Order: sequence, then structure tokens, then C-alpha cells
Amino acid sequence: MSERWTSDSWRQFPAKHIPKYPDAQALADVEAQLKNYPPLVFAGEARQLQSELADVANGKAFLLQGGDCAESFAEYHPDNIRDTFRVLLQMAVALTWAGSRPVVKVGRLAGQFAKPRSSETEEIDGVVLESYKGDIVNGMAFTPEERKPDPQRLLQAYSQSAATLNLIRAFAQGGFADLQRVHGWTMGAMKDSPAGHRYQETADRISEALAFMEACGINATNTPSLHQTNFYTSHEALLLGYEQAMTRIDSTTGDWYDTSAHLLWIGERTRQLDGAHVEFMRGINNPIACKVGPTMDPDELIRLIDALNPDNEPGRLTLIARMGADLVGEKLPALLRKVKNEGRVVVWSCDPMHGNTIKAPSGYKTRPFDQILAEVRRFFAVHQAEGTYAGGVHFEMTGQDVTECMGGAQEITSENLADRYHTHCDPRLNGSQALELAFLIAEGIKEERDAHISVAQAS
Ligand code: TRP
Ligand code: MN
Repeated sequence: MSERWTSDSWRQFPAKHIPKYPDAQALADVEAQLKNYPPLVFAGEARQLQSELADVANGKAFLLQGGDCAESFAEYHPDNIRDTFRVLLQMAVALTWAGSRPVVKVGRLAGQFAKPRSSETEEIDGVVLESYKGDIVNGMAFTPEERKPDPQRLLQAYSQSAATLNLIRAFAQGGFADLQRVHGWTMGAMKDSPAGHRYQETADRISEALAFMEACGINATNTPSLHQTNFYTSHEALLLGYEQAMTRIDSTTGDWYDTSAHLLWIGERTRQLDGAHVEFMRGINNPIACKVGPTMDPDELIRLIDALNPDNEPGRLTLIARMGADLVGEKLPALLRKVKNEGRVVVWSCDPMHGNTIKAPSGYKTRPFDQILAEVRRFFAVHQAEGTYAGGVHFEMTGQDVTECMGGAQEITSENLADRYHTHCDPRLNGSQALELAFLIAEGIKEERDAHISVAQAS
């Protein structure tokens, strides 16, 4: 790793999963243009997120991160943004209540476009074309024109991110995110959804808590925090040319921030210690995250932590474990123990999506709801056994009523997947499944918490 970091020092390192553009000059021109575009987030907001994540690292808050696997130009619609945001808020209410702790809300949106692919190329009927790498790179249609990486797509991704973030900001601050209102949706959804009966009791208890507060005179008029929320954006920092163009010096501190999102993460496929992505990420001052899969070795993890967070700042680094339900019990404990024993402060979050992807008998890539839930439950159990804090969850989900993951109270089957399978990449939980999952996790957290409280009172 070079000593001196600059926003382009990553270019000296091997970079995986960054496409080659046929016209390098056209790409350079677009990147130069992007450099002059306004930042999407302000550095002060990124610092605020880091301080909220420091609370998570210290066991005083919980992280909820979720959104599309890949945003797309085709699914770009205000209703889709609204519906995903709404489900995330509903999930956040359940989790806030369960843990009696604030939930840090981070969307996988307003910039989640670039995708690493297992294969450079795709072959259909003897024709070989470049793989689809996300709408920021090329198009999904299987034609030579669409699959050619096109730099103009960077500008479209920027503009879609800007408008998405603008709407989310308005929703978060303008009254849409009002706590009573969000809970009202949940009560409404409960009647219409087959998952409803599963969380009736929890939802009723939240209603009681809200009514009690109201009776005590705490309401949205005199307590603005009931009426609005902080909501942050995140995406995988994969396409480093785009990220570099969005990386600026913050005028208030003189530090570098990647202003394309509040939080950026390194994917499982690009976390090489001597690679371009780690080099780029170590130099930006945003809070960052890194995916951690089952092949991670404890010593390697410490080296990675030290490269990314040399000052051991709480909230700077989130580790997102994506082990799979079958491996989390075997692989996670040694990593938790090592990080704890070496005194490194991180947020541990659970991505129960990427380790549980299978091919359904009907041919679709899917994820069984029960496996997703099982990984989260085991993640919590392992933390409890190791005396560490299970700090958060990370989901691929949408507010739309898609049929991409199997199971849940809707009992989506392998055959049903064909009905509404819209994802541009991995299968997402639909709105009903996401909310159901949040309530199931909330019940688990609540039980654990109640057990702790009764132990504490008895002693
Ligand atoms: N401001 C608080 C928070 O964000 C309470 C709150 C208001 C809230 N609206 C919300 C919590 C929507 C969850 C979801 O935590
Ligand atoms: Mn994915």
C-alpha cells in the first residue's frame, strides 16, 4: 500500500470488476464533467452518520441498511422510491421498539448501480457478449450495442441519484416519516397482508407505547423528532472512476469525502488488501463498510481493519458478514473473537441475503425466506455467545410486491417466482416479506432484552 493517498492513487493498483471502456477519452471527458457537478451529500452529514454508527459500535444503537440489489433506469419511478423508503421506515419502527435503541437508517439507494459479475461475459445460443454490469455501465438487453460500456450512463446514474436523494430528503424531513403515520401504515398493512397475524401483538404494543406518549403530551408539534428522521444513503464503491469524480475536499475540515453517498462499502469480490478498492476507500473520510464472507481469515481481517481504520475510530468501519445460514455458526465466531481480542472497534452487521442465494427448480435465482431468517437468528446467537454486539442488518429489498424470494407468509413458491420477477440482479425481499422479517427479528431482540432486564433486576 502506498503511503501517500490521493483520490487517484487507486489507479496504480490492480482493480477487479471495473469495466474497460472502448473509448477511454469519452470516459475521461465524462469523469471530468462529473467532477464539476454538485456533491450529492455534504461532508457534515457523513460525519453525523459516523457518530451515529459509533453509537452502534458501542452497543447503544442499531443499524438498518436496505434497498435494491441494483437500482435500474427502468424501475426509476417516484412510487418505487416512496414504497421502498416506507417499508424501511416501518422496519425501523419495529426495531426501535424492540431494542429500545435508536435505529440508524441507511438506504441501499441513490447510487447503487454498479455490479460485480462472476463472469466477464455471457453466452446465449453461441453468442458471447460482455456481462451486464449494472445500469451505470451497460444495458441489460442482450445486444452488442446495449452491452457495450457507455460513459454517458455515469451522468444518467448521477442524475437519478440526485433526484432520488432529493425525494428521500423531502420525505425524511417533510412529515412523511412521522412516527404515528409510519405506524399507521403498518396497522393498515397488517389487515391486508397474510403476514399480519404474525406481528399483531408487537404492533399492538407499539400502538400502546405511542398512545401513552401522546397522553403524556409528547407529540409531533412539540417534539420535532417524532415528525422527522435522519436517513442516509449508501452503495458499493465499485466503479472507482465515478467515485473519484465525486470525491472532494470538504471546505470545513480540509479532508477528502466521497460525496456520492454518506456511506460506501467494499464488496466481497474487491476487498483484496493490495487492490484498488481498498486503496481508494482508505483515503476517504466517510464512514465505510466491507463485506466479509466465509473465506475471510481472522489475521487477514485484522490487516484489512488496520488498512481501513488505522486510528480505530468507532463508527468509521462496519463489517457486513455474509456467510450463509449454514456457515455463519462455523465461520463467524473466530472473526468476532479475533477482532474483540485485538481491541478493534467495528460495527458488526448481518447480510443474510448473499450467502443464501440458490437456483430454484423453476430456474430462477432465489433466496428462501427461512434461510434468510435463520442466518439472522444465528448471527445474533453467535454474538451472544461471544459477548459481542450484533449491531445491524443489511437487506436486499423493495417496497414493490415482487416475487423473487421464496417463502414468507405469502408462501411464494418456486413456480410463483415467474409472476413478478423484476430484479436487475439478485432476488429481493418484497415489501411484505421485508416487514415480516423485521417483526420476526424485533421479537427476537425484544425477548433477549427482556431476559437481560429480568436478570439485572433479580441480581
Ligand atoms: N426521529 C426518531 C428516529 O428517527 C423517531 C422517528 C420519527 C422514527 N419517524 C420515524 C423512527 C420513522 C423510525 C421510523 O428514530
Ligand atoms: Mn446483490
